[in-house]
Amino acid sequence: MKILVSRLAVAAALSLCISASPALAEAAPAPAAAPTAAQADAFIAAAEKESYDYVTEASRIQWVNNTFITEDTDALAAQSGAKGTEMAVRFALEAAKYKDVPGLSFDTKRKLDMLRNGIVLPAPTKPGAATELNEIATRLQSSYGKGKGTLDGKVLNGSDIEAEMGELTHTPAEYQEMWTSWHDNVGKPMKADYVRLAEIANAGARELGFADTGAMWRSGYDMAPDDFAKLTETLWQQVKPLYDSLHCYVRGKLNEKYGDAVQAKTGPIRADLLGNMWAQEWGNIYPLVAPKGAGDLGYDVGDLLKAQGFVSTSPSEMDPAKRGFWEKKMFKYGEGFFSSIGFAPLPDTFWTRTQFIAPRDREVICHASAWDVDQKDDLRIKMCTKVNSDDFTTIHHELGHNYYQRAYNKLSPLYLNGANDGFHEAIGDSIALSITPQYLVDIKLLDPAKVPSADKDIGLLLRQAMDKVAFLPFGLLIDRWRWGVFDGSIKPADYNKAWTDMRLKYQGIVPPVARPDDAFDPGAKFHIPGNTPYTRYFLARILQFQFYEAACKIAGWKGPLHRCSYYGNKAVGEKLNAMLAMGASKPWPDALQVYTGSREISGKAMLTYFAPLKKWLDQQNKGKSCGW
Ligand code: ASP
Ligand code: SER
Ligand code: ZN
Repeated sequence: MKILVSRLAVAAALSLCISASPALAEAAPAPAAAPTAAQADAFIAAAEKESYDYVTEASRIQWVNNTFITEDTDALAAQSGAKGTEMAVRFALEAAKYKDVPGLSFDTKRKLDMLRNGIVLPAPTKPGAATELNEIATRLQSSYGKGKGTLDGKVLNGSDIEAEMGELTHTPAEYQEMWTSWHDNVGKPMKADYVRLAEIANAGARELGFADTGAMWRSGYDMAPDDFAKLTETLWQQVKPLYDSLHCYVRGKLNEKYGDAVQAKTGPIRADLLGNMWAQEWGNIYPLVAPKGAGDLGYDVGDLLKAQGFVSTSPSEMDPAKRGFWEKKMFKYGEGFFSSIGFAPLPDTFWTRTQFIAPRDREVICHASAWDVDQKDDLRIKMCTKVNSDDFTTIHHELGHNYYQRAYNKLSPLYLNGANDGFHEAIGDSIALSITPQYLVDIKLLDPAKVPSADKDIGLLLRQAMDKVAFLPFGLLIDRWRWGVFDGSIKPADYNKAWTDMRLKYQGIVPPVARPDDAFDPGAKFHIPGNTPYTRYFLARILQFQFYEAACKIAGWKGPLHRCSYYGNKAVGEKLNAMLAMGASKPWPDALQVYTGSREISGKAMLTYFAPLKKWLDQQNKGKSCGW
């Protein structure tokens, strides 16, 4: 994820930053009658100034809270968040007064819309509401950060347990213990807070003229909110057959590995057997599903790093020079890719201010995020990196945010954002798609003799599909659940049941054990207590293939799409930068067109990429009864 100040754990979250000193905002009050376009311009200028100043200050506070969770930093973060919420709501109400003024410029109109729509968690203007909302939001996020689970009775923090879920060395009983302890310890205590948070945010959304908070979230895509919901459904239907084929194949392999008692041949898959705490990406269990012989890949990026001596910092390592040494080197590979296509190196401060690994002696939010604290060039990442393949990809993901942030840093404050939030999430991922065997040779991680030959293409594609295709229904359902919570169709008493039902409906997975009535499993996934809208990741999963396909075309690549790496290609970098530098200044189809030539988001590039695999999976699945 990326952290935009306001939407940082902060309830305030404008879709961008927002700030303005109250005095300045009041300098341009909307007149009681017939406001003019010039007054609207003055209001925007004041709001941008106030929001910009607020965001830099709030980012610093959030950074300290995220990297040093205590009662005091929680209190400071909640206070700052409340200030941001109140400011954002004030701007939204003010912006509404100007929306129909004749003669508004394109930019003023666009910025007024942003101010009206862009609050992740709005609060009503009632005194105390913003404070209560931000106290809850901070408490939820910090509880997640401090969350623990167990393995063989030993207590593990979030990043450690996530890494263990990705190891193939455990028994089903151990996966079950990790899954259950994490969901019980982290999720369950959050329920009452989440109920209250939804109530307050909904009251805030209604005051701003939206039906509920979910409707507000759907309004940030340069189209009618209902059309956006329809678009996500159309995209899902386009890619769903690919997911269904993968699900069927993987279920069969898990049955072969574990036997009927653990994983039946039919029905849903047990959620804890897929190599990931949330069953959202399955790449870690690739060795269990790898095609025998011809398609087997023969390498794993994490193992390649380990073979070069990379090793995760031991929690007990005391020498500051050694702590994070290898993890930092992993980031150098990411920077190297961006440099090779023409982006300037990261600022020196990136290397001194980034949190590369979990600190030894304090609680932090380990979930990875990218920041631009001064909204200019104070780029940083906060991660609890491990030497493994997941984190190698996540590094590229996070760096994508940082390079995007820098590319648009000259724009006016309200445009300091992605074309939409899905774009922001897709940039780094589209770079990571270029981590091909040949690229690994180029950066000297893979022995040229070990490059998988063309007959291993199915293995390469399957490895990617385990992460990319497996994610699609997960990326969709998180917000379908929240949309339901916010619009009232999912009642507090049914929060967990609705969650489990949706996990079954979309992903075809079930918890390893029946869930207790008071469970709150959604809380065990960062973005729920962190209040980060999630449809962005669904969009990004699709967009990244469009970006990648476009880049490969610019690079003149002729072979199979998944073998293309545009490492070193300056023409790609130039075109990519042209899109990134637009920030949020134009509707997203304009940005998409600049890089890809198309104005439509579509699953076609993803389907093209995986076409040979789809055919192969369907052959493997012949005679099986697929579905659940
Ligand atoms: N950036 C990822 C996400 O957006 C972080 C991760 O993969 O852990 O939340
Ligand atoms: N980074 C997002 C997550 O961790 C999407 O992959 O959920
Ligand atoms: Zn991200």
